[in-house]
Amino acid sequence: MSYKFDKIINRKNTFAIKYDLSQERGKPADAIPLWVADMDFPTAPCILKALKKAASHGIFGYSRPDERYYGAVKDWFFRRHNFEIKKEWIVNTPGVVFAIAAAIRAFTKEGDGLLIQKPVYYPFFNTISVLNRKVVNSSLVFKRDEGVPAGKQSEAGHYEIDFKDFEEKIINEKVKLFILCSPHNPGGRVWKKSELEEISRICLKHKVLVVSDEIHSDIVFGENTHTVYGSLSKEALENSIICTSPSKTFNLAGLQFSNIIIANPEIREAVKKEISRTGYDEPNLMGITAAAAAYADGEKWFEQAKKYIQGNIDFIDDYLKLHCPKIKAVKPEGSYLVWLDFHEFTELSDREISEKILNEAKVWLDQGTMFGSEGEKFQRINAATPRRLLKKALQQIAQVFVAGVAGGV
Ligand SMILES: Cc1ncc(COP(=O)(O)O)c(C=O)c1O
Repeated sequence: MSYKFDKIINRKNTFAIKYDLSQERGKPADAIPLWVADMDFPTAPCILKALKKAASHGIFGYSRPDERYYGAVKDWFFRRHNFEIKKEWIVNTPGVVFAIAAAIRAFTKEGDGLLIQKPVYYPFFNTISVLNRKVVNSSLVFKRDEGVPAGKQSEAGHYEIDFKDFEEKIINEKVKLFILCSPHNPGGRVWKKSELEEISRICLKHKVLVVSDEIHSDIVFGENTHTVYGSLSKEALENSIICTSPSKTFNLAGLQFSNIIIANPEIREAVKKEISRTGYDEPNLMGITAAAAAYADGEKWFEQAKKYIQGNIDFIDDYLKLHCPKIKAVKPEGSYLVWLDFHEFTELSDREISEKILNEAKVWLDQGTMFGSEGEKFQRINAATPRRLLKKALQQIAQVFVAGVAGGV
């Protein structure tokens, strides 16, 4: 069966933050929203069928996952990531950020240093700060790529870890916990096994607990392979909290359901205790229903969605090269988020670039500095949208940044 991703579906007035928050956030009402990380595609038909069945049953009482969910999630991770999970390792939370916050509360105290790698998904440092812990940052290093064969690394550049700085920060700031973004948002890196092994070596040496946010791990392209942090070694498994969810893979973020994998029983109990301290108990019925259907029957849909997104990422790169080559796309190895580099616009400040995109091009992107000052003169665009809409957004951006281009864009 082939699924269609080209149809533009009106999401206004559907409680969608991507579309319905423009006024509240002071954005033009007609700006094309390609900021927050959800897809503009309906989820897989098998998930819709399961949700409709649950809705028409009509009883929405307290619910908990059963063997249909546990079997499907275990099979998915084994089949797709070669990672064997035991049922009792899985803890459900209403989201990955919720789980990260619980882990922070369980294993650190106010004032403790927590390590992240900016530019990074902003709720990492917001959550650390709001819990009165200290943000310790080991910035990723952006390497501009020259003469890289097309289709290999991005020609714009790629991020690397400065391991010397990473270890020094851990020692000097007495870091207790590291939040890894794997694959990395917004940088798009799918960390190589060797990079993760080095992270693990350093974290084990200095007794730093690793919270590995792997929410984007299914969406990896080409020859890139995602390595589940816990698959590195028994020691890494025992020293980690692995945060996963069907939400990015199947576009289910609004159903608020995630699978947090914690093999170490002491760590698991401490996280569970923190979760129960928030008053959260059973997961949402629709979340369980969707997750069980997704992992059991959604793979074909997902493979096609991924292919379409890969096509969109190539389209962004090709379009910009042709019509506005000063904007460079950092093609992601994983995730549907593309980091756009505006550094060649030396005459414009970061703020001027953002204002032009929003108010002149009428496209709502995530400004790079939201992910840390390392994101200056970058913008993040979401590629999980029908190509026609993406093209319109790129046309509007190119028109503003290439004033007076002959032949139009
Ligand atoms: C790296 C990363 N982690 C977590 C989330 C959000 O997860 P949740 O909605 O489950 O809290 C996102 C959403 O964009 C993300 O990119």
